[in-house]
Amino acid sequence: MTELTVRRLLIDLTTPFAVRWNGNDAFRSAFFNALSMSFPQGEQYFIDSVRAGLKVLPATEQERLGREVQGFIGQEATHRRIHGLFNGHLQTMGFTNGIERRAVKRIADNAHRDVRVHVAATAATEHMTAIFADWMLQHPEALAGSEDRLKTLWLWHSAEESEHRSTAFDIYLALGGSQEWRVRVFRYVTFIFLKDVTLQTISNLWHDGSLFNWSTWVSGARMLMAKDGMFRGNYPQWKAYMAPDFHPRQQDDALSRQWLLDHSDQFVPVGATVQASPF
Ligand SMILES: [Fe+2]
Ligand SMILES: [Fe+2]
Repeated sequence: MTELTVRRLLIDLTTPFAVRWNGNDAFRSAFFNALSMSFPQGEQYFIDSVRAGLKVLPATEQERLGREVQGFIGQEATHRRIHGLFNGHLQTMGFTNGIERRAVKRIADNAHRDVRVHVAATAATEHMTAIFADWMLQHPEALAGSEDRLKTLWLWHSAEESEHRSTAFDIYLALGGSQEWRVRVFRYVTFIFLKDVTLQTISNLWHDGSLFNWSTWVSGARMLMAKDGMFRGNYPQWKAYMAPDFHPRQQDDALSRQWLLDHSDQFVPVGATVQASPF
């Protein structure tokens, strides 16, 4: 079992930020905005799925995994809240959140499915967020020129995604979910993720007026498709999920642990005394 700490982030998210908050780079701002727009709905789905999975496990398994699930829910609930504040600024700037609308419909359309499918979809997405999170911690230049408070927001989220990478996967194993369905759902989730994030990034760039600028796509290609880019560079880690003996713990989380150690002044564990908070 992984001990998961729920952390309250001590950053100011009441002050608005620039449209191209990510280093005045149109693509990087639009892409990360698309991810942020997907989080509140997605993370509520992960919480609901893992909670429903735990509920149908035998008492001994609930005992074994319950505490970690509680930490997972606390972390994702905090991410939802913080990204909700971030997304509020995007809404004020006039961005349209289509990714959330599509997710709401997809979740409703699939509500009838077996709990194992929902936990598999959660484990699949958590694998993708964990490998992207590790990539972010390895490549903080993806946020170069951003305000410190926004760097902290994205890297704190990355560190916690890396930290809780195993929770949904372990629930899926405890539920006796098959390898075949794990991989099938992973392929589906990958397709949906790529499609939805691409559509939302395009929408954001359209609103920003930079969709047809050459520099926009040069930046996008550099960040995602360079040899060590977020997508291309992560292909081996993405593919690793297909192996029958895969487990998220096989992948290293040292960067996450180091970031949390180095930035412990940026958050307080929930339950600890807060001396002075900007909120
Ligand atoms: Fe999250
Ligand atoms: Fe997560």
